[in-house]
Amino acid sequence: MVVVGIESSCDDTGVGVVRDGQWLLGRAVRTSAMLHREFGGIVPELASREHVMAILPAIADALAASETALDAIDVVAVTQGPGLLGSLLVGVTAAKALAVAISRPLVGVNHLEAHLYANALVAPIEFPAVALLASGGHTALYRWSDHGALTLLGETVDDAAGEALDKGARTLGLEYPGGPAVERLAQTATDLGLRLTIPKVRHPEHRFDLSFSGLKTALMEMHQRYPDRSSELAYALQSAVVESLVQQVIAAALAEEVHHVYLAGGVSANQRLRQTLIERAAMHRLTVRMPRREDSTDNGAMVAAAGYYHWRLHHRMNLDESPRSLFPLGEPQL
Ligand code: KG4
Ligand code: ZN
Repeated sequence: MVVVGIESSCDDTGVGVVRDGQWLLGRAVRTSAMLHREFGGIVPELASREHVMAILPAIADALAASETALDAIDVVAVTQGPGLLGSLLVGVTAAKALAVAISRPLVGVNHLEAHLYANALVAPIEFPAVALLASGGHTALYRWSDHGALTLLGETVDDAAGEALDKGARTLGLEYPGGPAVERLAQTATDLGLRLTIPKVRHPEHRFDLSFSGLKTALMEMHQRYPDRSSELAYALQSAVVESLVQQVIAAALAEEVHHVYLAGGVSANQRLRQTLIERAAMHRLTVRMPRREDSTDNGAMVAAAGYYHWRLHHRMNLDESPRSLFPLGEPQL
């Protein structure tokens, strides 16, 4: 079963071709990140315009890279939300057109869930598990009981983990996206004495809520005191974000009594996070799985993998369905 996955929720136009929800046949990613750099964050209108230009070449490139002919595609999957509406519209429109043109089923995928499915491109998911999604727009913990069965255990009450790194990077005069820039600068830190308080939520609505907005102010104050110690500050910022994420995901896994922990989202490309989680999980005899680094950030392959499992669950997107800029995952339906 060959699924093509289309992703356009933010600033990356990604297309991936995946067999049976696991085997990546080929992919293409075009990003408009450089264009947003001078603005220090994503400009939605610019992002949509770039998706329009990139979507058809990206589909053609992914099919060529996977040596897959159009009529060999069995299912078309697309990110339906959450994300920037104008950006989502481009991917959803292209996916609908493709599905109609080749008479194949169309599956709408939740972008957050797609990030978790980047793990399925490594090995089949083992349930039950606890999953940590840490990206630029979202940070949340889920109990993952089965395909299509997720329960929200907690989420950030303010900024996402990636957002904290992006904002912190701006304070340190680094380019957007901030996560990779902070990671690179932190590697050059020599004196590791500077510390930022690990953020905690005082009154969590869910037991495993997180908070990152306090880090922004704390970093600014420290930057004023130590303007010449950017690499140590980058190290301190990265450490505080990593500690907060790792402590919560381990606590959630123990409370949920699961043996498997999954990591996902753009921030999961961070080596320090990956390493710390592996070490801490081993102490508690938890297995930890993470996507390949290149599948951590937005891409079409993870959408194809999620689409495959939802197709098996008989989920379909109708042609009159719209993209969903808000698309909660794992919350009780009201
Ligand atoms: O998942 P993603 O590509 O897009 C969203 O759905 O938000 O995540 C992007 C986020 C950005 O905040 C970026 O700074 C962060 O992931 N990121 C990283 C790294 N690579 C990307 N954060 C830390 N270390 C990295 N190597
Ligand atoms: Zn994402």
